[in-house]
Amino acid sequence: MQTATTNSRIVQSETQLTPSFRLDTREYSAKERNKFVKENTVRDWSQLSWKDIGRPFQVTSYAKEKTNWEKEKGQALPVHTSWEMFNRSFHEWFVKDVPTEMNVAKKQFFSSLTSFKPKQISSALGDLARIHFWNYAHRVQDGIWDPRGKRALFEGLDVEKPRILFLGAAEGYEGMQLSAMYPGGEVVLVDYDAFCKDIRFGEFPDSYPFLGENPQTGGKKVYHKDDFNVTYLVEDIRQLSFGKEFDIVISVGLLEHFPDELKPDVVEWHRKFLKDDGYIIMTTPRAQLRSKLYYEIMSDVMNHTYRELMTLEQMGLYVYENGLDILKHGYIKVHNAIIAKPR
Ligand SMILES: C[S@@+](CC[C@H](N)C(=O)[O-])C[C@H]1O[C@@H](n2cnc3c(N)ncnc32)[C@H](O)[C@@H]1O
Repeated sequence: MQTATTNSRIVQSETQLTPSFRLDTREYSAKERNKFVKENTVRDWSQLSWKDIGRPFQVTSYAKEKTNWEKEKGQALPVHTSWEMFNRSFHEWFVKDVPTEMNVAKKQFFSSLTSFKPKQISSALGDLARIHFWNYAHRVQDGIWDPRGKRALFEGLDVEKPRILFLGAAEGYEGMQLSAMYPGGEVVLVDYDAFCKDIRFGEFPDSYPFLGENPQTGGKKVYHKDDFNVTYLVEDIRQLSFGKEFDIVISVGLLEHFPDELKPDVVEWHRKFLKDDGYIIMTTPRAQLRSKLYYEIMSDVMNHTYRELMTLEQMGLYVYENGLDILKHGYIKVHNAIIAKPR
């Protein structure tokens, strides 16, 4: 196992905690792999019914930014604006120097105690809880990027130098991870919020290591953002004019933002631009107690948009009943995931 760093870039089989995120290129053995992805628990999707599995849990604790906007304007927050708010808010947390912020939050909490003002104390306690929760979820658990889970999920696709289309790409993390594992192709990232292209992707750390394949040696290779052939389009998914030209179409956390009447459209967006033998990859946050707690505590950071938390069975049934065959399904740390092909 190599653990050296070159030009301060992490090379292989290493993990390192930075102030705002974790770097992790540790590999797993074949036996260990099951720790990172639990797969194929449903034998026959045609046997599932909504009556048996119930409907997803809807998150209803919204960000103050959204509720204040709606109170002030007397109308519902437009969806595009809600994404603009979400992306700025999420990014602000991503770039926080977490150890420093934890100290600040701790000091503010103790100082609030001496004010004897319940509102001030409760607000300082909220800040302290959020930064500790964020540290645990993102830096300790690495639950948001979850590189080992994503690698376990993405492996085994029959593609060479694929063209990858990432719908609602935000910073494009999973597109880059796929491109490291299946190198030599192109990744097209699509998001209709320009902030995602300019800031979330634009300022994505060059030093972040994506562990992938080395076609020259057949061994492993670490890639960085600049190594990928990325095209970033600031466009509405519904306006894209591609043909059936992609080997992989992926979305990460998109389906759960649409109520049931729009779910068939969301599945169709994935099918529309896919080659006949291509793969669709979709993930959605899991409906587990921990996630419910996360979206409650982090509501001001995360909940500007319509959001559901669903089980793997619920996600699978949406995908299956909208015409996809499920090749592989499973869950990683905080997301359900499905790899499918059009039926
Ligand atoms: C919840 S995010 C996906 C999660 C993402 N991995 C992240 O870390 O934020 C969904 C993204 O899809 C984008 N999006 C939603 N609807 C879209 C549409 N119709 N066209 C293009 N992008 C869209 C939003 O701007 C947002 O950045």
